[in-house]
Amino acid sequence: MRRIFSFIVAGAAFCACAPKSAELTVAVVPQPVKIQQFEGTAKSTAASTKISGRLAAEEYILDSRSGRVKIIGGSEAGVFYALKTLEQLRLQAVDGRIARVLIKDKPQFSYRGAHLDCCRHFFGVDRVREFIDMMAMHKLNTFHWHLTEDQGWRFESRKYPKLQEISAWRNGTMKEQEWGSNDGIRHGGYFTQEEMKEIVAYAAERHITVIPEIEMPGHAIAALAAYPELGCTGGPYEVCTQWGVHSDIFCVGKDATIRFLEDILDEVCEIFPSEYIHIGGDEAPRDRWKECPDCQARMKAEGLESEAELQSWLNLVIEKYLADKGRKIIGWDEILEGGVSEDATVMSWRGPKGGKAAASKGNDVIMSPNNYYYFDYYQTEGAMENGEPLSIGGHVNLRQAYSFDPFEDLDEEVRRHIKGIQANMWTEYISEWDGVMYRELPRISALAEVAWNSDGRTSYEDFVKRVETALVPQYKAEGWSYADFAFRTPEID
Ligand code: ACM
Ligand code: ZN
Repeated sequence: MRRIFSFIVAGAAFCACAPKSAELTVAVVPQPVKIQQFEGTAKSTAASTKISGRLAAEEYILDSRSGRVKIIGGSEAGVFYALKTLEQLRLQAVDGRIARVLIKDKPQFSYRGAHLDCCRHFFGVDRVREFIDMMAMHKLNTFHWHLTEDQGWRFESRKYPKLQEISAWRNGTMKEQEWGSNDGIRHGGYFTQEEMKEIVAYAAERHITVIPEIEMPGHAIAALAAYPELGCTGGPYEVCTQWGVHSDIFCVGKDATIRFLEDILDEVCEIFPSEYIHIGGDEAPRDRWKECPDCQARMKAEGLESEAELQSWLNLVIEKYLADKGRKIIGWDEILEGGVSEDATVMSWRGPKGGKAAASKGNDVIMSPNNYYYFDYYQTEGAMENGEPLSIGGHVNLRQAYSFDPFEDLDEEVRRHIKGIQANMWTEYISEWDGVMYRELPRISALAEVAWNSDGRTSYEDFVKRVETALVPQYKAEGWSYADFAFRTPEID
């Protein structure tokens, strides 16, 4: 019988072992559901991998008790996550040998997401692949790809080619936070359909689903610049050079707009096999609709009492259209305002409040609250003195990202509607790719741990040590920028 030196359930991964194995740490991020460490060491290469019908799809067992690593996954995804864990154990190898362990692990949440805005600044396919690699390292499984905006449309359309000719380009960008300024540099780009298919396949190889976002009815000025007949006033419109929330949105009183959105979604569904399509829905001022004869006529014909209900009407039309293709919608929490169908999934960004309300009504929810998971916010309170690059504002440090409770104040029945959590990366003030990685890392590790094993989180201090041991060397090896405040000067948090 082997002697068990320690039994670790979501606890510190160190034990008082015999001298040789005592040198071996077993720091893993995200914290596995169960780790047992045994005396002795094991060969660091995987001796065998197999799929087991007894495990859930993303579940795995990594067993190196015999001195050789054996992996069992519930599916290829489970095996993939085991290999990600093994990479972390290898970083901690001594004389080429890893710890003898038995790890039984599976994620708590089925949706573990990261979002990337490729519209405010355009980043091409190589960068998107790198983002997906970064997600895979952290065992995330859903990439939310923000593809349309006021400042640029990034989805190539065969049916509406002016989207890539006109909507994908803007005549300059406001400088820093000087409203009204313009740097005079034309900026833009778009993803071809082939490139987007390539990204879908690249992500799938890493067990990541890509959910595309096509914003409606707001954040649509780039599209209106090419097709002004789809706006309430008829334009003319220009692809925006300034950030913020803009009054011009799609006119949903006009049948041509509905046709346009459905046509675009036809093309979207051909490229993206995801069950869910994100339809945006945030920050859509309804002032133009109030003045627009077409929108008012639509409200009358449909018996709608408010412009908020008109937005809900649009959501329902689109939801039905997508349902016929076997798809479901996700929208930002504003979709709750005029009433929402029970099949819509709500993405809660204005704090967790909207998500809690939606889950209580029976809607599925993804929590991406800005006060925990907007990683475009600063990483320290004294950002300027700490030399952080200009950001949109706010402040989410690593500790804060680690502290989110997805189930706060929710009873058992309601909790099952919280499908997962997501970090968002808006790129108004990020023109260089390094700026994206610097802001993601290491905060995405906190998101990953809460998504994978919210209930099994260890202390914040232990988490930081594990990130330093198991992830930071990988960031360095990849050449990724990361913020080191939490490791270097935790007191400035
Ligand atoms: C958002 O940040 N407007 C979803
Ligand atoms: Zn209108």
